[in-house]
Amino acid sequence: MKALVLAGGSGTRLRPITHTSAKQLVPVANKPVLFYGLEAIAAAGVREIGIVVGGTHAEIEAAVGDGSRFGVEVTYLRQEAPLGLAHAVLIARDFLGEDDFVMYLGDNFIVGGINEITGRFTQDRPAAQIMLTQVADPRQFGVAELDGDGRVVGLEEKPREPKSDLALVGVYLFTPAIHQAVAELKPSWRGELEITDAIQWLIDDGRRVESSVISGYWKDTGNVEDMLEVNRLVLESVEPRVAGSVDDASELIGRVVVEAGAVVERSRILGPAIIGPGARVLDSYVGPFTSIAADCVVDGSEIEYSIVLPRSSISGVHRIEASLIGHDVEVTPAPDKPKAHRLVLGDHSKVQIST
Ligand code: G1P
Repeated sequence: MKALVLAGGSGTRLRPITHTSAKQLVPVANKPVLFYGLEAIAAAGVREIGIVVGGTHAEIEAAVGDGSRFGVEVTYLRQEAPLGLAHAVLIARDFLGEDDFVMYLGDNFIVGGINEITGRFTQDRPAAQIMLTQVADPRQFGVAELDGDGRVVGLEEKPREPKSDLALVGVYLFTPAIHQAVAELKPSWRGELEITDAIQWLIDDGRRVESSVISGYWKDTGNVEDMLEVNRLVLESVEPRVAGSVDDASELIGRVVVEAGAVVERSRILGPAIIGPGARVLDSYVGPFTSIAADCVVDGSEIEYSIVLPRSSISGVHRIEASLIGHDVEVTPAPDKPKAHRLVLGDHSKVQIST
C-alpha cells in the first residue's frame, strides 16, 4: 500500500499565518501538524508516500525532506493549482500505479492513528473505505447519507441542506478502482474535482464503499479554534521533561516540557505546556494548553491556551488567551498616555481587544 498526502491548499481560514507559511506546518505542541499524519502513516507500515504540494512546496519540502526521518520514502507531486482532492489523485496516477493507497489530508488530525482502518481495508478490500464523524456544522464538510443498515447511499460536498450530521474525515482508503471514477469527473460548482463525487461515482457504479463512524477525536485544523483544541489535546498527554534551565524562583506544575536551551526564571508554568528550545520565560505566567515555540521570549507577561510560533516576543502583556501568534511577532503594551491601541497588523489579521 502507498500513501498520498495532500499538502497544497491556501489555508484561507488561518490567515494571516498562512500568508507566509503552509497551514500543514502550523505547530501542534511545537511539531507541525503534518508530521503527526506522516508518523501515523509510517506506523501503519506504509513506506512510499507521495506528497501533493502547491504554492508552499518549498517550505513543505524543506520541513519534510526525503522522509527518512519518518522511516519513509517521499516523492513530491506538484499540483499547479488547487483544483480539488480528486485532481490530486489524477496527477498522482503514475506514482500510485496499480497499488491500493491511503489518502490523507495534511491538515487533518486523527487521534489513535490509522492502523486499525488500514488493517481492515487490507483484509476486506472494498473499492473505497471512508471514515465519518458527527460534527456540529456539516455544511463545512463532505456529508454522507446512510440507509437503515448503515450503508452509504449518497455523498455531498459542502451541502446547503445536509442530509445528516456525518462529515467525511480526511482519510480515505482506495483500490485502483478510484482512478476510473476520477477520470470520469466534471468540476463541481466550486470548480474543483471533488473526491466525494468520485466516491459517489463508485457507489452509483455498484462498487462496494465501506464506512465507519469514528467517535474518537478528529479535527480539520483549518481554523484557529480547531488548532487550539488539537494543541490542548496533544499537550494533555506530553511527558513532563526539563532539559533547559529553571531557576529556584520558578515553579512548574503538572505536565510541563522545557526543551534544551530554554530558560525559565521567576515564572510560574501551569501545565500542560511546552517551552521550545532556546525560548526564554521571565517573570511570567504560562497557563495550561500553551505551546511556546523555539527562541521566543515571554517577559513580564501572562499567556494561556495559546500557540506561539518561533522567535516571537511578548513582553509586559496581561493576559493573552486563546491566541495563535505567528513567528517573529512582537507584542508589547502601548504607552499609558494617551490610552490607545497601537497596531501593525498583517492582511487578514484578526484582533480582539479587551477594553
Ligand atoms: C475536504 C473534503 C471534505 C472533508 C474535509 C475533511 O474539505 O472535501 O469532504 O469533509 O476535507 O477535512 P476541504 O478541506 O477541501 O474544505
